[in-house]
Amino acid sequence: MKLAVVGTGYWGKNHVRALKELLDEGKISHLSICDTDEKRADEIAQHYGIPYCTSSHELSDDVDGVVIATPSDTHHALAKEFLAAGKDVLVEKPMTLHSRRAEELIQIAEKNECILMVGHIFRYHSAVNEIKRRITRGDFGSIYYMMSNRFSLRYPRKDMGVLFALGIHEVDVFCYLMDQPYPEELFATVSNYIGKTEETAQIITYFKGGATGYAFESWLTPVYGKRRELVVVGSRMSARIDYLKPNEITFFDATISQETVSQEDSYVIPIEYREPLKEELLDFITCMKTRKQPVANMHIGKAAVEMIEKAMESAKEGRKIRL
Ligand SMILES: NC(=O)c1ccc[n+]([C@@H]2O[C@H](COP(=O)([O-])OP(=O)(O)OC[C@H]3O[C@@H](n4cnc5c(N)ncnc54)[C@H](O)[C@@H]3O)[C@@H](O)[C@H]2O)c1
Repeated sequence: MKLAVVGTGYWGKNHVRALKELLDEGKISHLSICDTDEKRADEIAQHYGIPYCTSSHELSDDVDGVVIATPSDTHHALAKEFLAAGKDVLVEKPMTLHSRRAEELIQIAEKNECILMVGHIFRYHSAVNEIKRRITRGDFGSIYYMMSNRFSLRYPRKDMGVLFALGIHEVDVFCYLMDQPYPEELFATVSNYIGKTEETAQIITYFKGGATGYAFESWLTPVYGKRRELVVVGSRMSARIDYLKPNEITFFDATISQETVSQEDSYVIPIEYREPLKEELLDFITCMKTRKQPVANMHIGKAAVEMIEKAMESAKEGRKIRL
């Protein structure tokens, strides 16, 4: 089981760190890295005592699978190169910046019988999975709405705006919790105050059965520090996750109906901490061995890209879009 990480910048170096731990635990047999920035590649390779190269073409013969964590506009070409060579691929989100390119990758993966997985990391988040379990069990009653906020203050990214960078997590988590491939309808607004791509966006997703998902993303929020949270409101119970405190969920026993609004108690339950990135990588490695489809498979990766395309269309046209 030989793996390589392509792209070792802000996020890719987390993949390298987690995979080095899995290498030390004997879960993989070989780890190398590739980055076009030789200084960066050399520094990281030296730190972990692993080999590096500076061109993806140098990797193909030596690896069974790759993790691609390069800028989003390079995902399609790099994933295509490795899939065409018969390698398994975990590509970071967004899978691509165009859904027809995502579809092309799916077809190559299917033809060459490769695993193609996408870095939708929140599907591996213990607290999200605990909430999903309890929704499925009926603890929440009817789901009224979900609300997700991702605020920070940072330089806008150059390769994409907040819709593809952050909103894509939200729409995917909403679909995951609702156990539906897409919402029925979606409405979005975006603003670019300082750059060419949107730095702030709101997406509203409308699901079959009546639940609504509200997502609010911004890189221009100086007032909260970094805030990343998910709230789920149901007829019998509600819950809140602070993504920055991954080992707890707060539940609220609140009954909300036409006749009653009663809040009895709120309590925090501890969640066993398992690093979502490591869980994601373990799923990739397991699926490389078993040839099963990962939780964050290529189809949900493409669906997420489609939803963001629809969000862009909605924002441009100022109307709800049916999916
Ligand atoms: N899943 C998550 O939660 C999460 C979080 C952050 C970023 N990401 C994704 O990770 C990707 C990378 O983001 P980042 O913030 O780390 O970017 P970054 O700019 O910090 O790093 C990208 C790295 O890729 C290298 N690179 C560029 N082209 C290359 C090529 N052809 N071959 C090899 N190396 C190449 C660059 O030199 C750089 O080191 C993005 O797609 C982003 O959406 C995912």
